Amino acid sequence: MGNMLARLLRAAIPAQRVATTAAPRSPWWRTAVVYQVYLRSFADADGNGIGDLQGLRSRLPYLAWLGVDALWINPHYPSGGADGGYDVIDYRAVDPEYGDVADLEQLVADARRVGLRVILDVVPNHTSDQHPWFQEALADPSSAAASRYHFAPPSEEPPNNWRSLFGGPAWSRTPDGRWYLHLFTPEQPDLNWRDPAVAEDFERTLRFWLDRGVSGFRVDVAYGLFKDADLRDNPGTYSPTLFGHGPEQAMTWNQPEVHDVWRRWRAICDEYDEAMLVGEVSLADVGQVALYSRPDELHQSLAFRLLKSPWSAEDYAEAVVEALDAFGEVGAPVSWVLSNHDKERKVTRFGGGDVGTARARAAVLLMLALPGSAYVYAGDELGLPQAAVPDEAKRDPIFFRSGGLRAGRDGCRVPMPWNETRGVGFSTDPDARPWLPIPEDWGRYAVSRQARDGGSMLTLYRRALAQRRAHPSFAEGEASVSRQGDVLTVRSVGPSGTVRCVVNMGSQPVVVRCPGSVLLSSTTRLPRSGDGLALPPDTAVWLSED
Ligand code: BGC
Repeated sequence: MGNMLARLLRAAIPAQRVATTAAPRSPWWRTAVVYQVYLRSFADADGNGIGDLQGLRSRLPYLAWLGVDALWINPHYPSGGADGGYDVIDYRAVDPEYGDVADLEQLVADARRVGLRVILDVVPNHTSDQHPWFQEALADPSSAAASRYHFAPPSEEPPNNWRSLFGGPAWSRTPDGRWYLHLFTPEQPDLNWRDPAVAEDFERTLRFWLDRGVSGFRVDVAYGLFKDADLRDNPGTYSPTLFGHGPEQAMTWNQPEVHDVWRRWRAICDEYDEAMLVGEVSLADVGQVALYSRPDELHQSLAFRLLKSPWSAEDYAEAVVEALDAFGEVGAPVSWVLSNHDKERKVTRFGGGDVGTARARAAVLLMLALPGSAYVYAGDELGLPQAAVPDEAKRDPIFFRSGGLRAGRDGCRVPMPWNETRGVGFSTDPDARPWLPIPEDWGRYAVSRQARDGGSMLTLYRRALAQRRAHPSFAEGEASVSRQGDVLTVRSVGPSGTVRCVVNMGSQPVVVRCPGSVLLSSTTRLPRSGDGLALPPDTAVWLSED
């Protein structure tokens, strides 16, 4: 199907319809805009240079004003700190750096009062090496805890040819010479999901947080958990691409047994009011990704291709059509993603400077015009570029494990600028040393400055979110996607009539037919041309045809 689709798109004829989807009127998550909070970098209430739950709580009015529907908070658990909190020591607690369980409950309750739901990150593929289970397993190879991980007896060679996603082998030795599996860092031993105690414990964790009012979970590495039962060698060579997993790693990822975990988790969520699960399913084949969101599995699985596509109408059209088709087949909404804490900031990815900013503005209008749900990463609404973090300040294991060959992800995790004062308002103590250095010029991106500026990135996001709400045809309508050269059009028919998003991804202005009215545009330079509009390069416009 992939090739046929690609051919069709390459041959695209004016306004040819290449895909359509109809999203039924919906529970909240089907069309929600979810704001991803990198907790450590969002807002620091206790003045220690590390973002925390009370800091986030103090910024809830901002998020309500911005107009998103829900928050997803990156891991808040006690952690060994080897991988930005994705090495969890205790799944039913809050790291004291961030606060405590009462703070989280307060956050959830306050968020609800301003119309925001809270989603937590759950990390079931691996624990921290400091987790009590792993510690017990290290101390006693015959303990029950040892069977909750993948250990192999001492031998010269590791049990198979698997590699860590962060670089280096996926097996390390214990002090007594045994091997253990870690698909990420050695501080993140992989759990053995064939041991029922593992599943039971995670089910307890889900209920623990759902009982405290959270509205669901972002599931880390949801395509992992189970490994080939015999841990056979992978057939292909290791790909250095961070999250591109294809058939060459068939023994490591995407084992059929994992789908039953999601069925059980879905049943648990169904016991609670409108709780949802969104999976990180970083498989190369979107058809496989969509299978994780069959009606009795995860509510959503993130569609990552836009996050990786070059700035080209052909690539974008293909990514959008492919996702609409794949998720449409299983009746799930697409969950669109343009950026997150693992990828270079999109302004930089799109070329940086004015060009990168113009493209980022156009791209977000495209994303928010697509049917389904969308994920916005904190700081993107400010147009933050990738920050240059000096090597000596870096924290990301990817940088260290690649021997410095890969820059790592710190540059997209730098604290948020809230105002133009010293310390840019990140911490209540302006003299606090932030956990990652904040660039000198960060104040120019500050919320306070952009909120006053009708032409800022922040204003664009806010307007787009308001228009998306006012015109449910965007998120709920039946969309058709077409491409004419470098121009991509999404036309949606739904409860608020017919709306269109047109993006010019080429280098020349194009004339866009405009029978109705302009709802929003990523540029202020939108001159009339005959009975149409002249859309400059790297810009997008939202139109209503009624
Ligand atoms: C998270 C990463 C993390 C990895 C290991 C990912 O997919 O998004 O930030 O390093 O899982 O838990």
